Amino acid sequence: MPLVNVKDLLFDAAKNNYAVGAFNCNNMEILQAIIRAAEEEDAPVIIQASQGAIKYAGLDYIASMGKLAAEKSSVPAALHLDHGTSIEQVIQCIRHGFSSVMFDGSSLPFDDNAALTKEVVEIAHAVDVSVEGELGRICGTEDDISVCDRDASLTDPGEAKSFVEFTGVDSLAVSIGTAHGRYKGTPDLDFERLERIGELVDIPLVMHGASGVPSEDICRAIPMGIRKINIDTDIREAFVTGIMEALEEDPHGRDPRNILGHAREKMQEIVGEKMRLFGCAHRIR
Ligand code: G3H
Ligand code: 13P
Ligand code: ZN
Repeated sequence: MPLVNVKDLLFDAAKNNYAVGAFNCNNMEILQAIIRAAEEEDAPVIIQASQGAIKYAGLDYIASMGKLAAEKSSVPAALHLDHGTSIEQVIQCIRHGFSSVMFDGSSLPFDDNAALTKEVVEIAHAVDVSVEGELGRICGTEDDISVCDRDASLTDPGEAKSFVEFTGVDSLAVSIGTAHGRYKGTPDLDFERLERIGELVDIPLVMHGASGVPSEDICRAIPMGIRKINIDTDIREAFVTGIMEALEEDPHGRDPRNILGHAREKMQEIVGEKMRLFGCAHRIR
């Protein structure tokens, strides 16, 4: 079926109290793993392209593959720009057929982030493309963050309310203690903050850095308003594990299809697992 926009997927998720998985895609095998899992689980799905993915594969390839996968798929799929860096990039992605974009102005002062995000919303909504904004900084697990830095980087609930009202974004990525990459210990999520944001903001909230977040924390966050959950690192790890297993099994094997084929199966397994955890499996009526 044709690409759907993220807003429509998250509307159903909010109505029925589950979250939709958003999975980062960098090549054909990852994309096929995501779509195959979605079809197997009967789940709506968000395929997303990061800055790294666009640099690695090229926007043309990512967009063409994403559109093809969605069109051939039996489940609704969105193609989303992850952590968009500029209005120019947002426009390029819309021109390439993306059905949803994120504009990440979280490193900017509040007013600049809000003004640019509002501009993105005006452009994207004119062509029925949904927009995710970000307020508060979601760091990498490699970033050395002190307690006082951590407080400063987390999303302020009152600011979130003003940001959403001013910009008109469709969903908001919040910083509540998650980080991109593999966690060194157990992530410490600020649920009180998330609950407060959920009370003040009536649009779907987005959890970035969800790889490695314990299942209980994911299940606790969903009823507080988290409706889109981003997974990249867990897929990368399944990919590498799959390659290593295939080479261990047949150390002299030199057919990339056998090696990448096994990696694709490992990735499909982890994506399916996440879909069941997020509650988006068996949601297609
Ligand atoms: O947002 C962070 C994602 O894990 C993507 O990272 O730009 O290296 O693909 P990347
Ligand atoms: P992880 O690194 O935890 O998979 O997070 C991915 C992400 O948030 C992409 O935007
Ligand atoms: Zn992210």
